[in-house]
Amino acid sequence: MSETLVVVGSQWGDEGKGKITDYFATRADMVVRYQGGNNAGHTVMFDGNKYSLQSIPSGIFNPATVNVMGNGMVINPVSLCAELDKLHERDITDYKLRISSRAAMVMPWHPLLDGAYEESKGEALIGTTKKGIGPAYCDKYSRTGLRMGDLLDPEYFRERLGAALDIKNRELEMLGLRTFDADEVFEQYMKLAERLAPMICDTSELVNGALRTDGERVLFEGAQGMMLCIDHGTYPYVTSSSPSAASVPVGAGIAPQWIRKVVGVAKAYCTRVGSGPFPTELHDATGDGIRERGHEYGTVTGRPRRIGWFDAVVGRYTAQLGGITDWAIMLLDVLTGVDTIRICTDYELDGRRIKNPPPTIAALERCKPVYIEMPGWQEDITGCRTYAELPENARKYVEKLAELTGVQIGMISVGPDRRQTIIVDKELEKF
Ligand code: GDP
Ligand code: IMO
Ligand code: MG
Repeated sequence: MSETLVVVGSQWGDEGKGKITDYFATRADMVVRYQGGNNAGHTVMFDGNKYSLQSIPSGIFNPATVNVMGNGMVINPVSLCAELDKLHERDITDYKLRISSRAAMVMPWHPLLDGAYEESKGEALIGTTKKGIGPAYCDKYSRTGLRMGDLLDPEYFRERLGAALDIKNRELEMLGLRTFDADEVFEQYMKLAERLAPMICDTSELVNGALRTDGERVLFEGAQGMMLCIDHGTYPYVTSSSPSAASVPVGAGIAPQWIRKVVGVAKAYCTRVGSGPFPTELHDATGDGIRERGHEYGTVTGRPRRIGWFDAVVGRYTAQLGGITDWAIMLLDVLTGVDTIRICTDYELDGRRIKNPPPTIAALERCKPVYIEMPGWQEDITGCRTYAELPENARKYVEKLAELTGVQIGMISVGPDRRQTIIVDKELEKF
């Protein structure tokens, strides 16, 4: 029997998925990204080194792990090559990377369109990463997109490229943006294909092969967070894919029965980059303090992250939708020194208490958080390696999060390094 584990973001992204994936990847046979693209920024820290990954799975640092970029992703071959170059510069050269031939390709016009759509929204802009993620998924679903496997068949690629540019150039012109010459793009992409072709394959076959092999450990790494889900998030202030464990089967090309344990990565507080409702947002010195102590600035865009208290309404909602079996509570060390910590238990909407996020933005924007207060702790917890070593108030705090969300605490992170991790649910050690 093989083992599987899914790592998903349960808030608005940047919860620490890279750290948790890397932690398990030290013993995973395979790590699979199943959605999103280089809008992600996953930080991994070990042996005094810090790395930031955008589209490459966080298992890349273990030479024995096969890293898969699944069909549910949107992949920009130019930035993927740049990402690989950056790893090579830092002597990460011994790795296994496989790219799905069915993954959608981000083309050079997609970031331009991303920027133009944002501009057209004026004040209501989403605050995207401008990596072209939305436009690339649009083309996938409008069936005009190119796929990574097309690079393996130059004639077919040229044909698809011509057809795509027939319509895209008209759109680009209409928006006052530069247009593209199919032959030039073809030349450029054939060069990229020389480098990437050996890695492009039917990754669904690969993952299913691992799943059928006794003793194999397969980890699925989500990007973004479930409140940014295209279906269940704070639409339209969301990304263009579903970061939920529910999209693993489609995005990796496996059957849903393989999904059993799901680690929901959650900060001990909340952050959000980009626009959109954020009921527990702090606009005071406490929020500023958390931002500075937690170095809460975007890995991809460098933007300051918005800060708020832990939102158990969001926690319950994402746990239910994402099948979360365990929380990984991250950055608990950042709350050290906060005298009184608040947790949002419910929202108040137009004078009524509600337990779940309302489905419309207008209603969510009217929601007022209902808080409980917990006493904080002053002790430095960055050296704690067992649950028992944590100060009593820190333990009471995470236990309250578990109680309010109905999901057990699987693990706790007390610093960015791989070793600064406490396993609470011993079942997770099986992976
Ligand atoms: P991801 O996108 O979910 O992988 O998260 P990011 O890497 O964008 O952001 C998480 C940030 O928190 C990174 O800078 C991590 O190095 C850092 N981090 C992760 N876990 C901890 C922790 O327990 N404590 C502290 N202080 N930092 C952490
Ligand atoms: P990781 O994997 C945080 C946000 C953007 C914007 C919205 C749409 O590091 O957690 P997009 O470029 O996807 O069209 O932007 O989603 N966003 C993220 N926020 N972490 C991420 O990834 C994000 N990926 C996208 O800021 O609000
Ligand atoms: Mg990130």
